[in-house]
Order: sequence, then structure tokens, then C-alpha cells
Amino acid sequence: MSAPDSIFVRACRRIPVESTPVWLMRQAGRYMPEYRRVRKQHSILEICKNPELAAEVTVTAAERLGVDAAIIFADLLLPLEVMGLDFEFREGEGPKIASPIRDSNAIARIKTDRPEDLGYVSEAVSMVARHFAHRLPVIGFCGAPFTLASYMIEGGGSRQYSETKRLMYGDPEAWEELLRRIVRVVSQFAAQQVSAGADVLQVFDSWAGSLSPSDYARFVLPQTKVLISELKATGAPVIYFATDSAMLLPYIKQTRAEVIGVDWRIAIDDAFEMLGPNFAVQGNLDPAALFAPERELRRQVREVLERAAGRAGHIFNLGHGILPETPVENVLALIDEVHAYSATRNQSPSSSVAF
Ligand code: CP3
Repeated sequence: MSAPDSIFVRACRRIPVESTPVWLMRQAGRYMPEYRRVRKQHSILEICKNPELAAEVTVTAAERLGVDAAIIFADLLLPLEVMGLDFEFREGEGPKIASPIRDSNAIARIKTDRPEDLGYVSEAVSMVARHFAHRLPVIGFCGAPFTLASYMIEGGGSRQYSETKRLMYGDPEAWEELLRRIVRVVSQFAAQQVSAGADVLQVFDSWAGSLSPSDYARFVLPQTKVLISELKATGAPVIYFATDSAMLLPYIKQTRAEVIGVDWRIAIDDAFEMLGPNFAVQGNLDPAALFAPERELRRQVREVLERAAGRAGHIFNLGHGILPETPVENVLALIDEVHAYSATRNQSPSSSVAF
């Protein structure tokens, strides 16, 4: 842990801060010319597996934007490789897993004894932590069991998750075993990142919103709880992020992650109300707001801040990752507006400035 007194780490712990911390999912990505320049020379996996490059991409994005945290440049799917599943990123198509998992035999073959083969991510974390020292906290991350299982079963991105649900409903014991194996690997992977200097961990459950609340409670929550309690044991605050999760919040609370990330499909004041006083909330501007004219973008940023109303434990973010076509100057305007507006607003919580 390198920056425990930063506004970001304090907000994760619901300690009042002078201005609202902000960082953005996919802040190092294709929208940024500096990133595209590195990508011209290297594939995404080459960047991930070369700690110097991964650290450079992480640091460049955080410094260019002036955000309050640096998320380590890596990918959700890296642990699949050490579990024995090969995959590649095809240009314009997204990830493709060579032999997707479809039955209990394939699940029995999943390896859980090599999480240290992901050491290149921790190496990059320690380089970034050394670079920023007390100036900026570092976020480590891993995938949640449901979202990783869905990639392993579907073989790539999906709209319906029908193969995932076929296995989940058809062979609940095999499903549970799959999630247990994922948790065994990613909990160690995330703990390595904390040992290397990550201040906070984010768990991405990007596709959990495809589940009914009762399926989430029955098939996903138990192993998600195991993962989050293991991550909390590292001492780092844990952010649990899922899109389209408003109706799942009563169950998501039970994970006991300190911070819950929500997307724009719920108003952030409603999320605070539903979660109650024991949770910080991260979010939740629609990434498409970055395509609006600057005046409208700034208005929407202020609206999120007004709804969050200076509550201790608000971390500003988008509701999902920055889209590749996003203009960089709009991202800079967003960050400027969060800092400037929250600095005046947080100091006078009773003010009623119109948004
Ligand atoms: O946020 C950051 O700046 C850190 C880097 C980061 C990446 N992937 C780098 C990346 C993070 C946090 C991720 C997480 C990730 N990866 C998620 C969860 C977040 C989410 O969006 O819900 C998921 C689902 C993945 C799997 C994945 N990796 C997909 C679906 C894709 C897109 C493929 C495409 O062509 O659009 C990737 C590739 C990827 N990972 C990119 C980046 C910046 C973009 C592709 C590139 O550089 O070619």
C-alpha cells in the first residue's frame, strides 16, 4: 500500500474528503493517442506481459488525465491462460477462447496451482507503485467468478449467455466447482497485486446484470462472497462492479465489498439509499455522455455530484469503460468538472447550486 492517505483510498473507507476522487474504467485505452502509439508496436497481450510496457501505459494515462488513481494495465482474461485455457484477441472481434468449457470433464481439467505464473502483473504493479509512491494510489483488479466463467463457457463475448446458463441450470455441481476453481486462482492473483503495492482491488462482474436476482443469489453470490472475503483479508478496500445491477443490489450488499460500482441505469442517490450507510458507491456517468457538447457533459457531471450530495464515500467514475471513439478533451473536461465542482460543493453540503 503506497498512498493510504489519498482522497481515493479515504473515500473507499467512507472518510470525508476535500474533493470527490475520480478515475475512469479503461482510462488507458484506444481513445488515447499515446496508447494507440504503443499498440501499433505491440499486441494487447504483449503489453500486459511486459511489466515495463504495462507500467508505462498505466502511468502515462493517469498523468495525462490527472485522475486520482491509476488502474494497472492488464486484462480480465489473463488468469484463463494459467488455468489451461488459451485465448487471443482478434482485431475488431474481441477475445476468442480456443476450447470453451462445456462440461464437468473440462472443469476437472482446469488448473489452479499456477497463479504465480501471473507474476508479470504484480511486477507491473510494483513499478507503478514505486513511480507514484505517495502521490497516487494504484488499483489492482480481477474478474468475478460469474463474468470469468461466462467467457470460459461462451468462448468470447455474448449477448444471451445461453451456454453459461445451460451449464449453470443443467449441472449445478459442475458450475459450483468451476466457480470454486476460478476463485482459488483469482484470489491469489489479486493478493499478489496487493503484496506488490496495490492500494485497492476492483472486482469486475461486468456481465452479472444478465442474471435474474434469484439466479444471482443462488448460483453466483456464494462464490462471489468467498472471493470478496478473501480479498478483504489482504487489507485493501474492495470495489465490486457490475453493470445493470440495480435490481441485484440487495444481494450485492451481501458480498460486503466496501465499495459498490454502479452504472447509469440507476440514479446514484437511489444506489446510496438502497445500499445504506455501510457502503461507498462508485459511478456512474454514462460513457456516452463523453460524446455530448462540453456544456452538456459538464452539466451531467454536476448532476451526478449533486445526487451524490457530498456523501462520504462517493468515487466518481463512468458506469462502464471509456468507449474507443471518445474525444480526449472531453475526458479532460469531465475530470476538471469533478474536481472543481466537488471542491466547492463538498465544503458547503447545504448549498443548492442548480445543475
Ligand atoms: O481500465 C483500464 O485502463 C485498465 C485496463 C483494462 C483492460 N481490460 C485493458 C484492455 C481493464 C480493467 C480491462 C478489464 C476487462 N477486460 C473487462 C472488464 C471491464 C469491462 O469492460 O467490463 C473485460 C470484460 C475484459 C475482456 C476484454 N478485453 C474485452 C471484451 C476487450 C475488448 C476487445 C475489443 O477489441 O474491443 C478486451 C481488450 C482490451 N483490454 C482493451 C483494453 C484497453 C482494448 C483493446 C485493444 O487495446 O486492442
